[in-house]
Amino acid sequence: ESPVRVALLGCGTVGSEVARLLLNGADELAARVGAPVELAGIAVRRPDKHPELPQQLLTADAGELVESDVDIVVELIGGIEPVRGWLLTALRQGKSVVTGNKALLAEHGGELSEAANDSGADLYYEASVAGAIPLLRPLRESLAGDRITRVMGIVNGTTNFILSAMDSTGASYAETLEEATRLGYAEADPSADVEGYDAASKAAILASLAFHTRVTASDVYREGIVGITASDIAAAKRLNRTVKLLAICERVTDEDGTESVSARVHPVMIPRTHQLAGVGGAFNAVYVEAEAAGELMFYGQGAGGAPTASAVLGDLVAAARNRVAGGRGPRESAHAALPVRPMGQT
Ligand code: HSE
Repeated sequence: ESPVRVALLGCGTVGSEVARLLLNGADELAARVGAPVELAGIAVRRPDKHPELPQQLLTADAGELVESDVDIVVELIGGIEPVRGWLLTALRQGKSVVTGNKALLAEHGGELSEAANDSGADLYYEASVAGAIPLLRPLRESLAGDRITRVMGIVNGTTNFILSAMDSTGASYAETLEEATRLGYAEADPSADVEGYDAASKAAILASLAFHTRVTASDVYREGIVGITASDIAAAKRLNRTVKLLAICERVTDEDGTESVSARVHPVMIPRTHQLAGVGGAFNAVYVEAEAAGELMFYGQGAGGAPTASAVLGDLVAAARNRVAGGRGPRESAHAALPVRPMGQT
């Protein structure tokens, strides 16, 4: 079998774990895929900063690597530009793309999936929402014959860690954020997490897949956890409740029968007996409700190098198997079937 050649863009927390798994697990991956999976190159900003990697694989020129003789591009750099251009080029050249880039997907998912559909390439992005938890493939494939009515859950580990810690210690938001940063849960600039942008991107991706429509991050009503005080948490406790930052995506039917989609992210006081109340630390949990399936719950590690790399490798194996079979995975459904409610309306 000729090898499936893989370009890796980015070698940070997740990318380095993906490189390690690819290099160390080559034999097992080859057996699962039915052909060798070969790491053809790794694009990093500073090749001299990665002495741990095979030096001949490193390049600082991601654009050139994308255009080289590779079958699959794995993107773990993040951000919109210049990544959007590289991934569009790859897809237009018929190369499959595996990405964890939630901000890009939440803004330009439609454009990327059209490019994939046009060229017959795969576009997989399980790692973009809820880390290791298999969630997007169940929405896209397992539940494709059902009618999903609601997707709701905790999709940001950093804010869940902070809210859980405030609940158990009674400490202030500022003190808890400091502790979360010290322990490495919150990033040096935690604004995307604590202001709800990260969860809003994930909500846009979830709503688009669940409702076969196209929701972008700016369609999602968003409130973060910055305004939550120790006394809010104490008041919730007195009511036998706890505060969680939830992403809520729903199919809404008006009195006249018109259907639309509502997507929002905001703190919610939930009963302490609710299953989501027990989700602590940096874990994620997502409820899915579908007409025939009823209620489903997905739970696990939503962030971190190894858990997120697991999702990336799963996508990579799927894309590589499709290459070997000479085909592609399921297309995303035609979009724009359901209108999106204006921000703030529920
Ligand atoms: N900052 C994100 C989180 C990382 O805390 O959940 C995973 O997407």
